Amino acid sequence: MSQSQPKPSRITTVSAGSRASDTPLATRQALQPEYGVIGELDNDRWDRAMRVYRKESVVFWQRFARPPVFDGQSVLEVGCGLGGLCVDIANRGAETVLGIDIRQDDIEFARRFRDRELPTPSDHIRFSCEPLSRYHETQFDYVVSKDSFEHIIDVDGMLAEIRRVLKPGGWVYIGFSPLYHSPYGDHDRRRTAFANLGVAGKLLAALPWGHLLMEKQILRRHSKMRREPVTSMHDLNLNKLKVGEFRKKIQAAGLAAESFLVNQGNNKVGKVLSALRALPGLEDYCTYNVYCILRHAGEITE
Ligand SMILES: C[S@@+](CC[C@H](N)C(=O)[O-])C[C@H]1O[C@@H](n2cnc3c(N)ncnc32)[C@H](O)[C@@H]1O
Repeated sequence: MSQSQPKPSRITTVSAGSRASDTPLATRQALQPEYGVIGELDNDRWDRAMRVYRKESVVFWQRFARPPVFDGQSVLEVGCGLGGLCVDIANRGAETVLGIDIRQDDIEFARRFRDRELPTPSDHIRFSCEPLSRYHETQFDYVVSKDSFEHIIDVDGMLAEIRRVLKPGGWVYIGFSPLYHSPYGDHDRRRTAFANLGVAGKLLAALPWGHLLMEKQILRRHSKMRREPVTSMHDLNLNKLKVGEFRKKIQAAGLAAESFLVNQGNNKVGKVLSALRALPGLEDYCTYNVYCILRHAGEITE
């Protein structure tokens, strides 16, 4: 677990566009007594964790143009983290669910999460750290990804792999937030960097878009904290993907967007950003989330 990630003080609720819109943190906070340490959880904390992930999942599906229909389908989740959405997908009727992630700790935790949440131990939900390149082509009806595409460093490679493993006629549901260039798109890297500056640190962390102005300082402070070079946001697990770039990469991978929604959710700041993003040059800075449904480009009929 990277030192750059914050410790929890409470369970956050989810609100798109707000400072708390990094939804996975909510589940992580509920699940992990000490952020970064996956420990034994008492019943009370498990119950809270389950409630949080169910709520996160409901909110997640609502943000797409239409909900997926998982009945009898084979589903892959890319960047499954602690596994909450995979359990949700199984509960929605999927025949098989595979969650993959690069973090071994998360995958081990996800297995415990599954065994705890499902009535009978089940191997129709599997979790793995193996890269997608190890899987056969055309085997999934759905590929889903929640709040991971702002972290995946090789987005081109991942989209190409997703297309490869997707069955003809299959669906891809990708939603993620917050985008790096949006007001608080640094996933609290700033807050962690300036944590020892007291009130000044809090002010720096509260400044919308401040991370774009202070990137060098943020990297320098993370280098110091980690005692190793942190030379780009990639080292802090952020790919800095812009919304326009993402659209182009989707197309280049041979996928076509059936729907491409942005700034989903209900809050006032989000509405202001949505109005501003129409102005020339502001799209990247005022787009904080993306919820898109994709298919093989060849199969779309306009
Ligand atoms: C913010 S977490 C989201 C986890 C989960 N989807 C959720 O919503 O709670 C992003 C996840 O993407 C994973 N990730 C990053 N790059 C990845 C890659 N190339 N392949 C698979 N998972 C990746 C991270 O390890 C992390 O668990």
